[in-house]
Amino acid sequence: MRSPVSAAPQLDADAIRALAPEALYSLAGRVAVVTGATGGLGRWFAAGLGAAGARVLVTDLEQGPVDELVALLGEAGVEAAGVAIDLAEEDAPERVVAAAVELLGGLHVLVNNAAVNRRMPILEMDRATWDWITRIDLRLPYFLSQAAARRMIEQGDGGSIVSISSLNALYALEQISVYGPAKAGLSQLTKVMALEWAEHGIRANAIAPGFMDTPLAAPVWADDDIRRWIFNRVPVERPGLPRELVGACLLLASDAGSFLSGQTLHVDGGASAGGRWFHKDR
Ligand SMILES: NC(=O)c1ccc[n+]([C@@H]2O[C@H](COP(=O)([O-])OP(=O)(O)OC[C@H]3O[C@@H](n4cnc5c(N)ncnc54)[C@H](O)[C@@H]3O)[C@@H](O)[C@H]2O)c1
Repeated sequence: MRSPVSAAPQLDADAIRALAPEALYSLAGRVAVVTGATGGLGRWFAAGLGAAGARVLVTDLEQGPVDELVALLGEAGVEAAGVAIDLAEEDAPERVVAAAVELLGGLHVLVNNAAVNRRMPILEMDRATWDWITRIDLRLPYFLSQAAARRMIEQGDGGSIVSISSLNALYALEQISVYGPAKAGLSQLTKVMALEWAEHGIRANAIAPGFMDTPLAAPVWADDDIRRWIFNRVPVERPGLPRELVGACLLLASDAGSFLSGQTLHVDGGASAGGRWFHKDR
């Protein structure tokens, strides 16, 4: 997997053509898996990977929405397959990888997107809820990445793991005492995967979205006070759209990001850059 130090290519006509986005970001011939694929963001990741030429395995809890998404992707010319798997089940990691291999012939890109959250004060947190959130948001991506990496190593041509972290990994919010730490753990895990699997040509990175406009977040954006609170913290003063995360996902998944590993990219309209002074009209 390591190239000789002196292999830097000359800038000739072929090298220039290889810089065109359709070549640089191409996922042709690769199989991508997206967990939580029928959710607000997951469907966009699956669509973006498919639009870049990947064959896409979509997986989520329920078969109906999975089938609908596979049909939608098919209409756009994307080769896709779907399986309903509860990621809380012990053998879920191995079943997801087996489905990618059986239905689409391999596994080159894994997007750890599925996650759950529950807001409540620490003083009210119970152990079952703590276990549920950490199981889906940290334990599952850990062991699914392990299973995916084992397959990628067997295939011998590398791979890319993209985990969906959160602004919350960096920036704590009251009543989010389990999801945030789990996402911080996912970003830290990303670094260790990058270190351990680089020798196999496997890169690991994360995307940390900020405040997004997704169906589940509709009540947040409908509340004037919360919306003002967010706009005071997000320099672009608007929610992020799901499709605005797709470019980062393609960068990390494709050879366009071939020297990027161990990073968490904050895609948050500038929210993690810092704070602006208070302004009464925001
Ligand atoms: N929406 C945001 O504002 C936002 C912000 C930062 C980070 N994120 C992250 O982006 C990712 C996607 O979030 P989203 O907003 O699309 O959420 P979502 O709830 O719409 O999608 C999550 C998906 O995961 C699936 N899932 C949950 N538990 C599962 C299980 N046990 N087995 C299989 N599938 C399961 C759900 O069915 C759902 O389709 C998550 O990792 C989330 O933490 C979202």
